[in-house]
Amino acid sequence: MLGQKLVAALARAGALGDRPISHLALVDVVDPAVPAAAFTVDARRGDLADPAFASSLAASRPDVVFHLAAVVSGEAEADVDKGYRANLDGTRLLLDVLRAGQDGEYVPRVVFASSIAVFGAPFPDVIGDDEQLTPLTSYGTQKAMAELLLADYSRRGFVDGIALRLPTICVRPGTPNRAASGFFSGIIREPLNGCEAVLPVSDEVRHWFASPRSAIGFFLHAATLDTGPLGHRRALTMPGVSATVAEQLAALRRFGGADAERLVRRQPDETIARIVAGWPAAFDSRRATDLGFVAEGTFDDIVRVYIDDELGGRVGEPAG
Ligand SMILES: NC(=O)c1ccc[n+]([C@@H]2O[C@H](COP(=O)([O-])OP(=O)(O)OC[C@H]3O[C@@H](n4cnc5c(N)ncnc54)[C@H](O)[C@@H]3O)[C@@H](O)[C@H]2O)c1
Repeated sequence: MLGQKLVAALARAGALGDRPISHLALVDVVDPAVPAAAFTVDARRGDLADPAFASSLAASRPDVVFHLAAVVSGEAEADVDKGYRANLDGTRLLLDVLRAGQDGEYVPRVVFASSIAVFGAPFPDVIGDDEQLTPLTSYGTQKAMAELLLADYSRRGFVDGIALRLPTICVRPGTPNRAASGFFSGIIREPLNGCEAVLPVSDEVRHWFASPRSAIGFFLHAATLDTGPLGHRRALTMPGVSATVAEQLAALRRFGGADAERLVRRQPDETIARIVAGWPAAFDSRRATDLGFVAEGTFDDIVRVYIDDELGGRVGEPAG
């Protein structure tokens, strides 16, 4: 989902910062959709965790690598081998093929999609970037391991890495993936499209959100940012909005009315509730905001982005 949006943004801009894009290679285990662009696009279907395939990726010596491929949280918890293979082995292979292209001068920027799932309960009320990483899912553990690899490969000068701890991206368009957090988007997206949504946790659950539009802004900013000020601390918690499920539902009501809210069906799910209970609720993302990363200010802003970007702005203004 984010990869496709990022590629669309790159195609629209035709440049990263002030440098025109000459070539884009897209890689996914499913056939990547190819955008119309002013630069050449080479779409390849393959498994990043397959050494033969991974070794073909660095041949074009990309200046910038956006590493978003992942087996997401629900699936990484259900299938431990698949999660470690894609999220850890795939990341290490990618970094190693980039390292193999080194000649003393070639140091590609690697922007890695990490997650706030690297943090684990018990949490302080507001979590800073220097909070200890004690992930409580296999997915969060794999992201934390990838962050460490990226930091070490950056310290060694193999790559110039930056890991973005993305908030839960909301409202996720289209069909849900197997992220345990999927309902946070479902309870907004489905009712605004006239469909029923299942809510598996209580209204008091609080979490950290940003829109897909903000996430793409984070990736683009990270691609051209001066990484000098990061020092050896290459992972940054991205800014976002802290909101409870109740606050999400209030925003849904403001945009979609009581009819939309009635489409949310409460159906407690202990597995999801247990995973989400180990997730953080609010962050101090000052380190990232000081470096120019920007997200929405309220959950209403996040719903508005969904309506504008995915529904052609067709749901009415909030009633206040
Ligand atoms: N969406 C969110 O809320 C969120 C939050 C935090 C972090 N992230 C991270 O951002 C990235 C993008 O998230 P998304 O929501 O677009 O997820 P997504 O599931 O839509 O995209 C992940 C892509 O990775 C591909 N992939 C999986 N294994 C692969 C492999 N072995 N080789 C090549 N491709 C492989 C999948 O086919 C899929 O297209 C992921 O790394 C995810 O962990 C997302």
